[in-house]
Amino acid sequence: MEYRSQKIAYWYFVAALPLFVLQVFLGLYLGSSYAFTIPQEIVDVFSFATARSMHTNLLVLWMLLGFMGGAYYIVPEETQSEIYSPGLAYFQLVALLVTGVVALIGFFFGWTQGRPLLEIPRPLDLVVVVGALIFLFNIGMTMLKANRWTVIQGTLLGGLVFLALLYLFGIPFYRNEVIDWYYWWWVIHLWVEGAWELVTGAILAFILMKLTGVDRHVVEKWLYVEIGLFMFTGIAGTGHHYYWIGAPRYWLWIGGIFSALEPLPILLMVIDTMLHVKERKTQIVNPLVWTYAIGCAVFHMIGAGVWGFAHTLPQINYYTHGSQVTVSHGHLAFFGAYALLNLTTFYFAMPKLKGIEVFDDRRGKIGFWTMNVAMMIMGLTFGVAGVLQAYIERVLGMGYMTAQSYMRLWMLVTIVAGVFFLAGLLTTVTDLLTLRPAKQEA
Ligand code: HEM
Ligand code: HEM
Ligand SMILES: [Fe+2]
Repeated sequence: MEYRSQKIAYWYFVAALPLFVLQVFLGLYLGSSYAFTIPQEIVDVFSFATARSMHTNLLVLWMLLGFMGGAYYIVPEETQSEIYSPGLAYFQLVALLVTGVVALIGFFFGWTQGRPLLEIPRPLDLVVVVGALIFLFNIGMTMLKANRWTVIQGTLLGGLVFLALLYLFGIPFYRNEVIDWYYWWWVIHLWVEGAWELVTGAILAFILMKLTGVDRHVVEKWLYVEIGLFMFTGIAGTGHHYYWIGAPRYWLWIGGIFSALEPLPILLMVIDTMLHVKERKTQIVNPLVWTYAIGCAVFHMIGAGVWGFAHTLPQINYYTHGSQVTVSHGHLAFFGAYALLNLTTFYFAMPKLKGIEVFDDRRGKIGFWTMNVAMMIMGLTFGVAGVLQAYIERVLGMGYMTAQSYMRLWMLVTIVAGVFFLAGLLTTVTDLLTLRPAKQEA
């Protein structure tokens, strides 16, 4: 840790981790609802819909906290200055956490907007907006005051501003259902396939540069290309969500073609990471961080690039839309791209924030492999359930419940893999919260 205010990041990470654990517990409940018949008395109190909104909103909350923490860690080093106001940063953390807790309790009592992933009600949206404004102000002022601009800083700030602006489109209620979903997708799609990719590009570039000692201009050159391509394919690629919402027909073409190109920038990110491996100048001190960075690049490619491509063409999406194939992709992509990116950041920054130069990574490695293998299996089992569902319901034209009865077994296997995932996650979280220096080798 070079700057005192980087310590802010630590508390953001510590806040994010238990929320991730809670998210996974709720995932297990959701999976059980498919695999078993949950007694009606329980469903009456705690429905699938309630648990689902908690599962996905926790996901968004912990990841955003992780990104913000990441920004508070990176910006001081990039600008070579302290954060403008640590007080505001802590205030904003508390405000977001309180909003999160109120939202979770609210869902329980049916206080929700009902739009997936953005369920939190309007008054809470306003608190989120205020929190986001404070965050952007703090980060922006730090950069402005320091006036030592780098491409990494610019990309990070650009991504964060874009992220916050998009959130605004999801707040109003539009009377027309088509318009409502249209803008809902602006938030969801342009987040994960636009703004969040920029933030990822910046964070990964920073970490790779620090880890490998590769020159800044090499890392930044790639960043330009990636951002350009992400924007080019990602914005028009939004069309792959307009097939079913009543938007004009030309979106079938635009969505199909541009979204089919979306794996390109992701592939570029993998190649870029691999090139850094070859060109690295310094010894990698903490190999686990390295494993995470490569794992993130590769899993990002599998979950978002390969699984995304698999159902993005209208001819295929005709059968798979809204099935467990989508869920399979949702899990692999969110985990591969953004859970692993956050964990890479945590493993990179947390030892430094604790003043540990080389950490003991034995537990961390077990956590990494357990989570990755378990999530890959979950992706496959959700996928098998999804293909069965698409075939039975949409090719054979049989009933919804007939399809469910064939999917059950695969949902059961998903839960078993999910339990392993939880074990891997608990190992990882414990490890991160109790990092120890490595014993000196003789
Ligand atoms: C890291 C990036 C990505 C993440 C986190 C992500 C996540 C998701 C999630 C959660 C959904 C489900 C939304 C819902 O209906 O509730 C979804 C849908 C979809 N994604 Fe992605 N995605 C990513 C990248 C991509 C890419 C690159 C492609 C195309 C190459 C793609 C293609 C699709 C398609 C076609 C759907 C709609 C599926 C349907 O019709 O049911 N995604 N994505
Ligand atoms: C024990 C582990 C987990 C289990 C058993 C699980 C299970 C589930 C289930 C059953 C659903 C609802 C699917 C539906 O509506 O039909 C769901 C939704 C979702 N989960 Fe998980 N989950 C787990 C962990 C995770 C993790 C680690 C992530 C991300 C890092 C994640 C991201 C999501 C997303 C994005 C959705 C919404 C998908 C969509 O809209 O298509 N889950 N999960
Ligand atoms: Fe999309």
